[in-house]
Amino acid sequence: MKILLTGSKGQLGTDFQLVSEGRHQVDGYDLDLDITDRGAVERRVADAAPDLVVNTAAFTNVDGAESDEIAAYRVNALGAQNLALGCQQAGIPLLHVSTDFVFNGDSGSPYTEFDRPDPRGVYGKSKYAGECYVAGLLNRYYICRTSWLFGVGGHNFVKTMLQAGRQRDSVRVVDDQEGSPTYSRDLASKLLEIIEGGSYGIYHLSNSGSCTWNEFTRAIFEIAGINTTVLPVSTAELGRPAPRPRYSVMRGLALEMQGIEPMRHYREATEEFIRRDLPAWEEREGQR
Ligand SMILES: NC(=O)c1ccc[n+]([C@@H]2O[C@H](COP(=O)([O-])OP(=O)(O)OC[C@H]3O[C@@H](n4cnc5c(N)ncnc54)[C@H](OP(=O)(O)O)[C@@H]3O)[C@@H](O)[C@H]2O)c1
Repeated sequence: MKILLTGSKGQLGTDFQLVSEGRHQVDGYDLDLDITDRGAVERRVADAAPDLVVNTAAFTNVDGAESDEIAAYRVNALGAQNLALGCQQAGIPLLHVSTDFVFNGDSGSPYTEFDRPDPRGVYGKSKYAGECYVAGLLNRYYICRTSWLFGVGGHNFVKTMLQAGRQRDSVRVVDDQEGSPTYSRDLASKLLEIIEGGSYGIYHLSNSGSCTWNEFTRAIFEIAGINTTVLPVSTAELGRPAPRPRYSVMRGLALEMQGIEPMRHYREATEEFIRRDLPAWEEREGQR
């Protein structure tokens, strides 16, 4: 397949290109194809004539979205709309990546693809608006929601905690938000499996298992052999600008219905990331 990828320099975009090597032809664009520019998007899709567009580009700064609402909606809603229009004109499907933040977090059990979104903060609302444009404009689309992403490319919680743990005696991490950490390389592989299967619709794609950020930090330190103390703090005490879902665990019912293997446990994925993939990536980057 010939795939046009947006957000190629982000966490997921980086891993999507890595796992596609030798399987599909991927033309990756990042800020060199501004998805908020409708004309540029339509021209690029028409010129490149791909079989599919994969959109991993996004405004992902959850707190920043609260103070820069326009920027968040421009990228996450308008950008998705532009890509959907480009795909509509070209007669090709779009795979659009979305988030667990489309849910309000008040549930006591994992959210399925058939549960009603009810985003609370600007980031979640802008991502849900993007989903609505995609589903409203196209007959053939994949909307793939994921959560708590970490990968070799870009900044993320795991990298931040590894650095903090190596520098400090203790860290304070929230213990009242529960979700599923997800390795972007695992997600990229699952996206390929879904694309190759060709069953359109909404998918929940996270690594299996769930934890709080506090528990995740303990796991990260244990895997990395870091002895730093992990103290609890509440979301309210931390006082971040954006509201966050208290519980955003998702169930991959679309995978279950099709008999597709769920993604492996986050603990196994985190071990592979910390012990193998991140050091290999850093060594490669250092040699450049
Ligand atoms: N990160 C998470 O924890 C998380 C959780 C759930 C869902 N998701 C979703 O998963 C997807 C991938 O996330 P990620 O963590 O890989 O994101 P990321 O690392 O922030 O990568 C997104 C990429 O898109 C680029 N971009 C921003 N605005 C753009 C524009 N107008 N035109 C073209 N490119 C633009 C960014 O460039 P700059 O960095 O220069 O802005 C960045 O390279 C997103 O849809 C996100 O909403 C992420």
